[in-house]
Amino acid sequence: MKALLGLNSVFHESSAALIVEGKLAALVEEERFSRVRHGKKACIDHTPILPYRAIDEALRTAGLRFEELDLVAYSYDPEARSAALPRLPKDFGVPEGDYGSSEGERRFKDLAMMTGPLLSARYGTAKPVRYLPHHACHLASAYCSCPWDETAVLSVDGIGETDTCSWGRGMMGRLVRLGGIEYPHSLGFLWEKVTQWMGFSPNHEEGTVMALAAYGDPARFAKALRALLRPNPDGTFTVDPELARFRAQDVDGLETVFGPRRLPEEPLQYQTGDRLHADAAAALQELTEEVLLNLARRVREEAGLPRLALSGGVALNCLANGNLARAGVFDELWAFPAAADCGTAFGAACLAWAEQHGPLPREEWAHAYKGASERPGAVERALAARRLKAIPLSDEQIVEKVARLLAKGKTVAWYEGVSEVGPRALCHRSILADPRKPEMRDHLNSRIKHRLPFRPYGPVVRAEDALRYFDIPASAMGPCRFMLAAVPVRPEARERIPAVAHEDGTTRPQLVTKAVHPRLHALLGAFGALTDVPVLVNTSFNDREPVVGTPQHAVDTWLRTELDALVLEDRLLVKP
Ligand SMILES: [Fe+2]
Repeated sequence: MKALLGLNSVFHESSAALIVEGKLAALVEEERFSRVRHGKKACIDHTPILPYRAIDEALRTAGLRFEELDLVAYSYDPEARSAALPRLPKDFGVPEGDYGSSEGERRFKDLAMMTGPLLSARYGTAKPVRYLPHHACHLASAYCSCPWDETAVLSVDGIGETDTCSWGRGMMGRLVRLGGIEYPHSLGFLWEKVTQWMGFSPNHEEGTVMALAAYGDPARFAKALRALLRPNPDGTFTVDPELARFRAQDVDGLETVFGPRRLPEEPLQYQTGDRLHADAAAALQELTEEVLLNLARRVREEAGLPRLALSGGVALNCLANGNLARAGVFDELWAFPAAADCGTAFGAACLAWAEQHGPLPREEWAHAYKGASERPGAVERALAARRLKAIPLSDEQIVEKVARLLAKGKTVAWYEGVSEVGPRALCHRSILADPRKPEMRDHLNSRIKHRLPFRPYGPVVRAEDALRYFDIPASAMGPCRFMLAAVPVRPEARERIPAVAHEDGTTRPQLVTKAVHPRLHALLGAFGALTDVPVLVNTSFNDREPVVGTPQHAVDTWLRTELDALVLEDRLLVKP
């Protein structure tokens, strides 16, 4: 048995991936089991906190014991960071002892190098640990999951060792790096910093900033923002480190661009009067799209290939992905569904596999249901623990009953099979609702998900119906499997599905085929037969917590919230 464990644990989105005999057995995110969002917060002291729950769930899913592993691949290379740091430009506002300070970096390296001893202390057996470059892991995750043997690859995030972007070419099971951009020129960090300036939680609420962009006018800050972030003629981009002050606690530099920061308790200005925060978000989104397009053109030219596979946290920016698809720089796009750091556990395992056994283990991801398998009897135990009773139903019964509930305006939580990986719920851990009612967005935001009132919702639609409702360029079909491209809702469809049309008229659909999700495909058909609209609202099954991980989380979240019904595998529970 040849088996490798990939780990992402250096910053956040801690996760574990197992490659067994050249195939992915499971990619498990720690947060789904620990219930700590993103697994942990990135700080030097957290470096040795390893994702043991994710490792254990991945091993259980594969039916393996830790001692059966050949080696552990870690998606970060501490030595490479130490070697590269001296060549970086001067940083600003670095607190002593933190990332970027000499003492902090020494400690950071020492703690990251403890991975092997920590694992052997926990599992009682020593395994070699292979440290791999972070962006190589992002690129491998995109390449090894995409449909093509030959493709350009691009990853864009906050930071790896010192890279913030990296690109190359995948061909015949090998990856060649063609270029990269180093800190402090970081789009991911810029989004975190603007998120902080706006009074939100960095590395968590960037999606809120993206949603806010639809309400703003980018022109107001377009010029000022270019002092901070500037696309270069060679396709790269430059961030002004003195204005960005990425490692400082403050946002002083951003205040010179946008004005005083918003404190979390202060009102968010986006809808009436001075739309300060929406205008800032719109300017950031617009310039991000320009910078990414500029970079994509460089990658297209350098790689000389017509397709692009994307990864890195910035690849979760569905507006930028939609824009890139419409621009036609590439004929086809792929966005890796676990594009943020959790996916690097998979990339690390793939790279280590290739080092040991030959070409990269490539297999197109038809879907993202790659998490841990369910423990036998978990549904029965979860129901019994809350003294609930529900008899097993056939798929046809579930579909028919749920379609009727949804058509009556009820909200239905849907828990089924192996969890999806990445931040988008793709109808294995989802909340479904009727998109025909404009008030459904407000209901979900205020009563169930407890989010800000402008946060949009995406739809799920059968692939064969998608183009009747959404204007999807052919190049965006791949990202639309995973809700990773924003596309316009067709004007004639906007009043039919108002709950999923955002302020700017776009939405990020999930396209479902019968082969990938037969029961949901049937549900969309049944809902369409009742309402003439074969589209549903689809959002993650959670309320200010990580997406539910187990049947017990599902039952408890359903009980705690105002969700009307719960599909738990083959059971249906409806509140009176
Ligand atoms: Fe990353």
